[in-house]
Amino acid sequence: MRAVAIRPPGLQPESLYINQRQIPSIKQNECLVKVVYSAINRADIMQRKGLYPAPVGESDILGLEAVGYVSQTKSSLWQEKARVMALVPGGGNAEYVAVNEKNLIRVPDWMSFRNAAAITEAWLTAFQLLFWISSVTKRELGRKPVEESTFLVHAGASGVGTSLIQILKKVLGAKNVFATCGSEYKKKYLEESLGVSRAFNYKVEENFNELVMNATGDRGVDVVFDCVGASFWQKNADCLAVDGEWIFYGAMGGVRVEGDFFSKILRKRIHLKATTLKTRSIDYKYGLIKDFESKVLDKFNEYGLEVLIDKEFELEQIGEAHKHMESNANIGKIIIKVSNPDTKQEL
Ligand SMILES: NC(=O)c1ccc[n+]([C@@H]2O[C@H](COP(=O)([O-])OP(=O)(O)OC[C@H]3O[C@@H](n4cnc5c(N)ncnc54)[C@H](OP(=O)(O)O)[C@@H]3O)[C@@H](O)[C@H]2O)c1
Repeated sequence: MRAVAIRPPGLQPESLYINQRQIPSIKQNECLVKVVYSAINRADIMQRKGLYPAPVGESDILGLEAVGYVSQTKSSLWQEKARVMALVPGGGNAEYVAVNEKNLIRVPDWMSFRNAAAITEAWLTAFQLLFWISSVTKRELGRKPVEESTFLVHAGASGVGTSLIQILKKVLGAKNVFATCGSEYKKKYLEESLGVSRAFNYKVEENFNELVMNATGDRGVDVVFDCVGASFWQKNADCLAVDGEWIFYGAMGGVRVEGDFFSKILRKRIHLKATTLKTRSIDYKYGLIKDFESKVLDKFNEYGLEVLIDKEFELEQIGEAHKHMESNANIGKIIIKVSNPDTKQEL
């Protein structure tokens, strides 16, 4: 089968190429999925560069998600030809991927494979941050109802950011959502299309922390969703409310901090919570998938949620796709077409 491979050290997108690999064999409770679409994620770029290896014992092929048909099954949960999305720790950027039965999601009848390709990693991450990690839906920490709370979403136009903002506003009814982004066209998109209260272009509005304080009457936001890390840490601490929550899930702006980090955290009694999805257990992901299905996926149209695809690349253009992601130009997901959607006939 065709699969994405890396020429070490993988620093540049050009180090990606298509290799011929054995079709994976499946174990009990697994399915083999014939992949129609896959997608790319920031974690793939880090893995390509040797900074975020595949979990031990998992496929070394890139790709944390895939969409297609079950072509072989050793599972009582799934039948051949079922239309599925797969959440995998690796192996998604290939023609076939072996997936544990508990980490497959049925593609709803009304959803195309193309749109399903943009769901798994971004929407499950956003859902996890909102429903499982933060206290947004739990009313802990003396939290006000969602409609009265204030939020700051970094990388608002990213795959995860656009999903998170939509769930916050359309599913949970949040009214005060602020976001950051790095360009004027993203700022316009976030304010006019996604309806955030205000978006800040952090490259121009470097004092976005002060602007957030002004916009919240000097109180600060209740929750920051942070996938940037070091380069924003002081601004996050400055514009969080007392007892606020700092949900940390990525470090695109670095991992080393200098300064009075602990003092700021302590003074405001900030709750810092960190999470990853790739390294979670099969059962954790299963629970998350089931919760996501019932609370979001089954009501996707009812809530008026939208799948946001920035650009589609062929599997052979995987290097171009990484280059596009690294240029920070995308709004929403970058997806990868692996084979024709009429594959069902070929099983
Ligand atoms: N923990 C988890 O379980 C988990 C799971 C999935 C994803 N993630 C993380 O979620 C984040 C978003 O992922 P994605 O796939 O949705 O990303 P994406 O669509 O590629 O978007 C990422 C955006 O982040 C912004 N950005 C990049 N470098 C930045 C920096 N140094 N400072 C500030 N902003 C920067 C860029 O937009 P602008 O600069 O224009 O804003 C870029 O387009 C990543 O950090 C990823 O690692 C975490």
